[in-house]
Amino acid sequence: MPAIKFYSRDPLPMEMHKVKIVQKLNLLPAKERLAKMKEAGFNTFLLHNGDIFMDMLTDSGVNAMSDNMQSAMLRADDAYAGSETFYRMQDKLEEIFGIPYLLPTHQGRACEHILATHFVKPGNCVIMNYHFTTSKAHVTRLGGHVEELVKDEGLISKSNLPFKGNIDMDKVKACVEKEGADNIAYMRLEAGTNLIGGQPISYENMKEATEYAKANGIVTILDASLLQDNLYFIKTREESMKDKSIREITRMIADLFDIIYFSARKFGFGRGGGILVRDEKMFHEMEDYITMFEGFLTYGGMSVKEMEALIIGFEETMDLDVISQGPQFIDHCVRALDAHGIPMITPGGGLGAHIDARAVVSHIPAEQYPAGSLVAALYLCGGIRGMERGTLSEERNPDGSERIASVEMVRLAFPRRVFTLSQTEYVIDRVKWLYDHRDLIGGLRFVHEPKSLRFFTGRLEPVSDWPEKLVAAYEAEFGEDQ
Ligand code: F0G
Repeated sequence: MPAIKFYSRDPLPMEMHKVKIVQKLNLLPAKERLAKMKEAGFNTFLLHNGDIFMDMLTDSGVNAMSDNMQSAMLRADDAYAGSETFYRMQDKLEEIFGIPYLLPTHQGRACEHILATHFVKPGNCVIMNYHFTTSKAHVTRLGGHVEELVKDEGLISKSNLPFKGNIDMDKVKACVEKEGADNIAYMRLEAGTNLIGGQPISYENMKEATEYAKANGIVTILDASLLQDNLYFIKTREESMKDKSIREITRMIADLFDIIYFSARKFGFGRGGGILVRDEKMFHEMEDYITMFEGFLTYGGMSVKEMEALIIGFEETMDLDVISQGPQFIDHCVRALDAHGIPMITPGGGLGAHIDARAVVSHIPAEQYPAGSLVAALYLCGGIRGMERGTLSEERNPDGSERIASVEMVRLAFPRRVFTLSQTEYVIDRVKWLYDHRDLIGGLRFVHEPKSLRFFTGRLEPVSDWPEKLVAAYEAEFGEDQ
């Protein structure tokens, strides 16, 4: 539970589990890391995991399972159609969310594919508090456009606002007026808003937004992929909710929405996804997409073993001890880096610690990808793999110019129940060193640039020999073997 008390020191975030299976890590020397980074086109997505010491790329599909999740896998009922596992999963989700119909998918973006295909027509608008890369790509692919109506404060990196993911109701009303409610395919609210730093949305705000949408006949969808962190923040930051259990809060949120979807690579600590649909007719209208794109209706592309593990994972998500740990480790990391003067996204959110790259490497022009450069430098200086979340993750404007991201961040994800506090301290130490040597970091330019979702597979090169100089400085500090 939040903050165990200590006798002789200030509280530390505490692992509320013990380690039963381990994986050995490699720390390559800095020069070897430089060679690997060149091979990977200065794109951390293209590194091999064996060459990484701290993999903080994402919390997606890399969370540690519990003993109960692993043992549940043995129960899996293998059947193409009618697997008992599916019915157990459906029952668990209905118990938690109170929504009866489940469309299983292989992961979160498959849910987005199906929802966008079903609801979005050319020219339609989709309202969001903020976009996620794949959720936006599916809308634009179909000729729709996304309106991101998060409150302005959500985009200010340093703040003490508890719910920076909140949608701005004045902007929502103006948008509905401008577009006309009929042209709005749906309103998608994202719990634990990923691209602005894992920042939560309050229950009150979800309530106000969904009530307004309903009054205007607009379908309401919750992206619950990062709901677990958001639940923790509602419980600990929203005064009116502090006496409610996680289960009660979850149910209150669920009651607000027509549809809830999730990536089970995050929500449930496994791998998979699902769309929960309240309305029977709507559910049947989308069924065909599952059989066409995912698999049969009782597995949707997931392995039944994973589904059994997820059933336990969903239940563990209702345990405050379990869901506290990620936000507490992140908070510890963010506070330590902030205290060193490093521009961080504050307050710490869920998912990971987020560095305001635009402020750290302000000498790198926006078109040379400040966050992309910083994240490449961090791998060179410590074997830490983070993720660029900024201009490089955007798609170009139709005229070919760069769409400069409103938020330019490096994300250091904290996969759940994976890293220890000493590993977290190592990361804090290397980020501090890099910050103190930030003048050595230079920009990047594309040598291979895919048209869509270019951050996944694009290849870049440094604009000068800055990586060599940075590695030389690092070796001078730590020696050649680190
Ligand atoms: N929605 C949110 C809020 C997400 O964070 C993600 C994935 C998805 C949808 C798509 O789910 O990956 O299972 O297809 N986020 C990952 C990340 C990729 O690293 O943040 P998916």
